[in-house]
Amino acid sequence: TVYTATVTSPVNIATLKYWGKRDTKLNLPTNSSISVTLSQNDLRTLTSAACSEEYESNRLFLNRKLESMETPRLIEVLKDLKKLREKVENSEGNEHLPKLSQLNLLIVSENNFPTAAGLASSAAGLSALVKAISKLYELPDSLSEISKIARKGSGSACRSLFGGYVAWEMGELSNGEDSKAVEIAPLEHWPNIKALILVVSAHKKDVSSTSGMQLTVKTSDLFNYRINNIVPQRFEEMKKSILEKDFNKFAELTMKDSNSFHSTCLDSYPPIFYLNDYSRRIIRLVHLINEKSVKENGKIIVAYTFDAGPNAVLYYEEENEKTILNVFYKILSEVTGWDAQKFDFKNQEYS
Ligand code: DP6
Repeated sequence: TVYTATVTSPVNIATLKYWGKRDTKLNLPTNSSISVTLSQNDLRTLTSAACSEEYESNRLFLNRKLESMETPRLIEVLKDLKKLREKVENSEGNEHLPKLSQLNLLIVSENNFPTAAGLASSAAGLSALVKAISKLYELPDSLSEISKIARKGSGSACRSLFGGYVAWEMGELSNGEDSKAVEIAPLEHWPNIKALILVVSAHKKDVSSTSGMQLTVKTSDLFNYRINNIVPQRFEEMKKSILEKDFNKFAELTMKDSNSFHSTCLDSYPPIFYLNDYSRRIIRLVHLINEKSVKENGKIIVAYTFDAGPNAVLYYEEENEKTILNVFYKILSEVTGWDAQKFDFKNQEYS
């Protein structure tokens, strides 16, 4: 017999960044973070998990390439999931259940976006893997409970288990039992928020998040100020802005947090540069757009955020899409070769 389960898990993009670990083995963070999970129809990982008496070893195919399952993180993740399955199998009345915890696994995973572009692929990938195996094992545990396992695979993955607006509470315990993702609000709460990803470079990032944050924790003087004096209050304010659908506040906090995170990167020694000239041009353009619209009607209409790479994610409310794309027409067509003329987007004002 072959037992199977298939799931999808979307990419999540942090608006309040996770950067720094207090425990590198358990992926316990030095601050709480917030993200928006894109919808299931956007960038996502599709993963099938299967197990059978006939499989002689664990195997994992990522975008059709065989990958090792023997990495320390994956070993941890599988151990935890198997433990939960054993609990189900050993509980009273479940004697008839097949002993799936004893069987080898076959995992097949595909991204619908370029993995190399540094678009939080590990978050979607790890969360899809954990979700698929939890479904295969029919685990009764809550998503927050399962998120602790995803966290061990890759910190940011814990947030992708939930859709919409998600918080990862850093927790205090040294065993990580209280470091988990929780829902702030579902996507439908604020459905007109859109994310636009500007891929200015598809090169693999120079410094991985995992090693970048280690260097920042060790060497940056600004870092302690960020985690102690900035993030705790920002975390509460950002949650509030989401619950109140206050775009002005949400956008301001998102942009400031991206800048704060990249400042600690620059303050690392030797410094880490994730942004490039295009990123900085995008930042300036966003501020120009906002200045104009604040002057006209007091409203900020677009926010940028950058992860550990030069690609921008813009957040805006759908009704402002055309205004924003008009301005980005030039930079979009330059970088991507996209013929924006066809779409009738033109704006001389910012050129
Ligand atoms: C800048 O989750 O990739 O995207 O826990 O070492 O796997 P590991 O790191 P990872 O770091 C993500 C960093 C970030 C910010 C964020 O997503 O919150």
